[in-house]
Amino acid sequence: MEQKELILVLDFGGQYNQLIARRVRECNVYCEVKPYTLSVEEIKKLNPKGIIFTGGPSSVYTNDAPRCSKELFELGIPILGICYGCHLMAYILEGSVVTAPISEYGHTEVQIDSSSALFSGVSEKTVCWMSHTDYIEKVPEHFKVIAKTNACPTSAMEDTEHKLYAVQFHPEVLHTVEGSKMLYNFVYTICQCSGTWKMDSFVETTIQELREKIGTGKVLCALSGGVDSSVAAVLLSKAVGNQLTCVFVDHGLLRKNEGDEVEAVFGLNGSYELNFIRINAQERFYNKLQGVEDPEKKRKIIGEEFIRVFEEEAKKIGTVDYLVQGTIYPDVIESGLGKSAVIKSHHNVGGLPDYVDFKEIIEPLRLLFKDEVRKAGLELGIPSHLVYRQPFPGPGLGVRIIGEVTAQKVHIVQEADAIYREEVEKAGADRGLGQYFAALTNMRSVGVMGDGRTYDYAIALRAVNTSDFMTAEAAQIPWEVLNKVANRIVNEVKGVNRVLFDCTGKPPATIEFE
Ligand code: XMP
Repeated sequence: MEQKELILVLDFGGQYNQLIARRVRECNVYCEVKPYTLSVEEIKKLNPKGIIFTGGPSSVYTNDAPRCSKELFELGIPILGICYGCHLMAYILEGSVVTAPISEYGHTEVQIDSSSALFSGVSEKTVCWMSHTDYIEKVPEHFKVIAKTNACPTSAMEDTEHKLYAVQFHPEVLHTVEGSKMLYNFVYTICQCSGTWKMDSFVETTIQELREKIGTGKVLCALSGGVDSSVAAVLLSKAVGNQLTCVFVDHGLLRKNEGDEVEAVFGLNGSYELNFIRINAQERFYNKLQGVEDPEKKRKIIGEEFIRVFEEEAKKIGTVDYLVQGTIYPDVIESGLGKSAVIKSHHNVGGLPDYVDFKEIIEPLRLLFKDEVRKAGLELGIPSHLVYRQPFPGPGLGVRIIGEVTAQKVHIVQEADAIYREEVEKAGADRGLGQYFAALTNMRSVGVMGDGRTYDYAIALRAVNTSDFMTAEAAQIPWEVLNKVANRIVNEVKGVNRVLFDCTGKPPATIEFE
């Protein structure tokens, strides 16, 4: 395989490790995160154009602090140390690192030396994100201080002869206003990368690597129709064609037409070479959910039944060598610090069984962020309406119907939700929304329709803005749009006579209703 330009990120346990990789990839240079324990020999084999040391929670002068070999600084490969990585460089090269008299946290004004290649084009006073309790008291021999703050005399240092650079702050986080420029300077001016990597290179290389790894083996993928599992499935299909079987469990709790849409893309008449099995398990799920009102019980029943259906299908296929999961970086809990991450099947959303007979789990997207996965999806030719789908919970409409789930209630919420999405999209009001959907309250109330009394359900409309889905605020939908949606729902969806809008943020509410 052709050697691609690589920037290697060595992980010392900081929080932002994958973010560094992502920022470098944004510069069109391929970047991977590896544990700090990677040997010098292994690093030489990877032949990176540059190395970045991440931050980390340790103090470099303590006995059990993670370290790297001094030899690494003698390879002639440019290195950028960030936060802990900055201390490590100073410590190993015999400078001095001690507890700082004043810790710095958050937005901090830094005065930089703009003659440094690292800071080319950066303002002389620039706001950076700090998070440290140690600092460099004395820089190592050959190093020059290239940035300082009022509290910290060495906010950055360089040894241009050996191409070694270090910053106390975090250039990878957006709070460091000119951080991307600094990383760009490191990658292009200092490491001399040419920047030929793009998402299509990721796609191409991953397909080739998957092909080599899997050989003639059989692969199984649980396809939900969501963007992550869809992109993973298409990558695998391009790599190994019909050695791949995708199992799509339609639990009867999908959005309107969703099952057919997924089948149209991945099924027999779809665009991909793969074995597609759609299991219509609606009745089975509705039966299990009959009479159950407690949200947690409902979630458990849906999760468990999903596993049972999947397992039955997996057994029919026979021995499967690999199981594919669409895990993406935000799903990855373990950082891989010092060991390769052990991801068991039950870690992933949807909870696949442990005991399907497979050699290994393949997670081709585990290094990517959601927007990168979307780019890969477009690159693979997946229709944009699938690629830009808003998140949809595994238990589906089961958690958007308060109380007992019945086929009739599923139908009501599917229809109302489809109208809501159609009108919001038509009005262009979906731009920037994190998530928006209709839910069915368990409340019935009195209405009047055509001179007659009705006693029907109330639909709740929800729309939120959020960056990480951990917190969210209620989003504003133009009144004309809401008005139209409400009119259409009560006129077109039998069983609904009232439409409410949920104005609550998270906290105190959650995004889903159950
Ligand atoms: P909540 O309701 O906890 O939702 O504020 C936060 C985000 O997570 C999604 N969600 C789920 N996704 N399985 C999933 O794959 C689930 O069980 C699940 N529950 C909630 C929800 O749609 C929102 O984006």
